[in-house]
Amino acid sequence: MTATTTLLGSLLTPTTLAGLPLSSRFAMAPMTRFRSPGGVPTPEVAAYYRRRAEHGVGLIITEGVLVDHPSAGHETTVPRLTAGAAEDGWRRVTNEVHAGGGRIAAQLWHLGSAREPVDGVAAWTPSGEPGGSRAMTLADIDTLLAAYAEAAAGAVRAGFDAVEIHAAHGYLLDEFLWPHTNRRTDRFGGSPAARAAFPAEVIRAVRGAVPAAMPVIVRFSQFKERDFTARIAESPAELAVILDAFAAAGADVLHASQRRFAEPVFGGSALNLAGWAGRLTGLPTITVGSIGLDGAFFTSGALDELVRRHDAGEFDVAALGRILLGNPAWVSHAAAGRFGEIRDYRKSDEDTFF
Ligand SMILES: Cc1cc2nc3c(=O)[nH]c(=O)nc-3n(C[C@H](O)[C@H](O)[C@H](O)COP(=O)(O)O)c2cc1C
Repeated sequence: MTATTTLLGSLLTPTTLAGLPLSSRFAMAPMTRFRSPGGVPTPEVAAYYRRRAEHGVGLIITEGVLVDHPSAGHETTVPRLTAGAAEDGWRRVTNEVHAGGGRIAAQLWHLGSAREPVDGVAAWTPSGEPGGSRAMTLADIDTLLAAYAEAAAGAVRAGFDAVEIHAAHGYLLDEFLWPHTNRRTDRFGGSPAARAAFPAEVIRAVRGAVPAAMPVIVRFSQFKERDFTARIAESPAELAVILDAFAAAGADVLHASQRRFAEPVFGGSALNLAGWAGRLTGLPTITVGSIGLDGAFFTSGALDELVRRHDAGEFDVAALGRILLGNPAWVSHAAAGRFGEIRDYRKSDEDTFF
C-alpha cells in the first residue's frame, strides 16, 4: 500500500495523532464483541484485532472495557482491565497489534443506567422511582474516579498506546452531559459547564494515571442509543463549553460519534461533529459513522465526500465500525481497488468473529 494507490487518497498516508505515529488515517471504531470470558481477552481476541492492524488500520480502538467497579456493568464476557489475567490478556492483544503494524487504544466504559437489569448508579434518577439505578453520591464520584484511574494505569501496564474515555451514546458519563438524564442540583448538574464537570474530572484522573506523552481520547456524541434525536448541546457555544472543559482536563483527541459522518450538526453549516469539535477546541479529531458500509460508498460520491472533508481539515482520522466486522482487510482491499473481495455489511456480521 503506498500513498499513490489512491482511491482512498490522503487517508492512506501516515500521520501522527497527538504525537502517536499511525500508519494510516483509518481507525477501528470500538465495538463490543462479548468474547472475553471472565473479562479476560482470549488469544482469538488478539488475533481478531491484529488482523485489522495488518490490513492498514492505523489505530485500533478496543471494544468498551469495563472499569473495575460493580456498577460498571455485569456482562461476564465484556473485557475488564484488572491486574492479573485480564491485564495479561490485553498485553497479548497489544503485542499482536504492534506486531501487525498498528497502534491500540483501550476504551474505558461504565454503562450507568444502561446496565441491565438496571441496578447500578446513574447521574440522576427521577425521585420516587422504585428500583432501578440510584443517583451517584459524592462518595460514588470519588470511588469511580479512582476506578477510571486504575483502569488507565492497567492500560499502561498492558502496553496500550492510548486510552479512550467513553463519554458517548447515553452511558454513565454521557448521562451527566445530557440534560434529560442529569437534573442534579449540586455542582455536577445544571449549566453545560456543570454537566461537563464529572466527565472532566474523569479525564483529569485518567490523564494523571498515564504518561504525559500518551494520548487521552474522549468519545462523545449528541445522539443516545435510546434516543437518536437527543443533544448535549443546542448550539456551538454550548458545545464549546463542554469540549473546552474536556480539553482543560487533559483530553488530547476528540472522537465525535455520529451515526452518519456527513450529517451537519448545527444549522447554517455543513460541518460534522468532528469538524465542530476541532474548530471549537483546536484539538485533533476522529470522525465516524456509516463509512464504507456497502459498495455504493465507492460509487455514490460518499468516499469523495469523506476525503474532501478530511482534506479540508474537518477531521484527522476516520473510524470504521461495522464494515470491519466482516471485512478485516477492508482498508487494504479498498486501497488496492480489490472491490470484488469486499462484502457489503450485513447485520449477521455482528454474530461472527474472525
Ligand atoms: C456490534 C457493535 C458494538 C458496538 N460497541 C461499542 C462500544 O463498545 N463502544 C462504543 O463507543 N461504540 C460502540 N459501537 C458503536 C461503533 O463504535 C460505531 O460508532 C458505530 O457502529 C457507527 O460506525 P459504523 O457506521 O462505521 O458502524 C458499537 C457498534 C456495533 C455495531
